[in-house]
Amino acid sequence: MAETGSTTPPRPLGLLAELTHRCPLGCPYCSNPLALDTRDGELAAATWARVFREASVLGVLQVHLSGGEPGARRDLVEIAASAHAAGLYTNLITSGVGLTARRLTELVQAGLDHVQVSIQDSAPSSADHIAGYEGAFTRKHELASEVVRLGLPLTVNAVIHRANIDRVGDMVDLALALGASRVEIAHVQYYGWALKNRAALIPTREQVDRAVTLVDELRARHHGRIVIDAVVPDYYARYPKPCVGGWGRRSFNVTPSGKVLPCHAAESIPGLVFWSVRQHTLAEIWQESPAFNAFRGTAWMKEPCASCPRRDQDFGGCRCQAFALTGDAAATDPVCHLSPNRAQVTALTAVQDDAPYFYRRM
Ligand code: SF4
Ligand code: FES
Repeated sequence: MAETGSTTPPRPLGLLAELTHRCPLGCPYCSNPLALDTRDGELAAATWARVFREASVLGVLQVHLSGGEPGARRDLVEIAASAHAAGLYTNLITSGVGLTARRLTELVQAGLDHVQVSIQDSAPSSADHIAGYEGAFTRKHELASEVVRLGLPLTVNAVIHRANIDRVGDMVDLALALGASRVEIAHVQYYGWALKNRAALIPTREQVDRAVTLVDELRARHHGRIVIDAVVPDYYARYPKPCVGGWGRRSFNVTPSGKVLPCHAAESIPGLVFWSVRQHTLAEIWQESPAFNAFRGTAWMKEPCASCPRRDQDFGGCRCQAFALTGDAAATDPVCHLSPNRAQVTALTAVQDDAPYFYRRM
């Protein structure tokens, strides 16, 4: 049934817990905000435990322990144990750098259910260059092997952009060799750090077309061996993605300092006020906070979304992208071919520059 500004929010299913913004890597497309939270402002493990209990009561089924690099938290095992104790399916999203085999074993004993490791490329020197960290490729390889040895399901997150898109097939082969049950072909999303590096990262139309065809072939070739998830990169799509499953509909992010966001890039939209788990319960934030209610339902939409039959499928696309490209967070996501700003997106795909990356640093 269509939601038209309903005041009864649906139940959230997922919680992304950004335990820290600290990370040894410097990926130029990092999803963390440009203004990173510092260590002294991070939530204590006991507060995370309360957040997980509240999330579970709200209906959340899965928690993703993320960062930065969650392994930078010395109390990661305690945090994972509290997520498990709250009854949540507990997934660790890690760079693979900063976690030892011993700590991984402790995490398994604490109830960890799943591990997701990101890879920068199938070629070690390129992977280390993109990560801005020498030896990252080898460390990831070792950690992924250990995950499989311990019997946990492994997902490989292959982040795709101009420098590595021609090796999509090799990256799927690498995921298979590592023993992953699933690989996500995750095209870079242009917010925050990636927006700063967009000209250095964006692939060409020809590269995207070749990769899409290849992924279809790989799906057929590896059917039953590995699940391959992939979507067309935003700037080359005809319709926008239903970002985060719709604003305030499915999930939330908690930042290292405790702010609760409808999506990881929501702080890029000026004027939104984000409530914190330090002052409010998750239920209060989910149901009543102005930021979550800003783009719920469809009442906020402008044309062409307001009268479009797809409005309950893609929810008008991504609010952060609409703001980044048009200056209006309530505008139709300009990657939609029905948007009056679509030509601007097409023009941006032609702006390419092989300048050095602007690496993310604390
Ligand atoms: Fe989606 Fe809006 Fe485009 Fe319709 S006009 S397809 S609702 S983004
Ligand atoms: Fe914020 Fe898409 S990243 S709505």
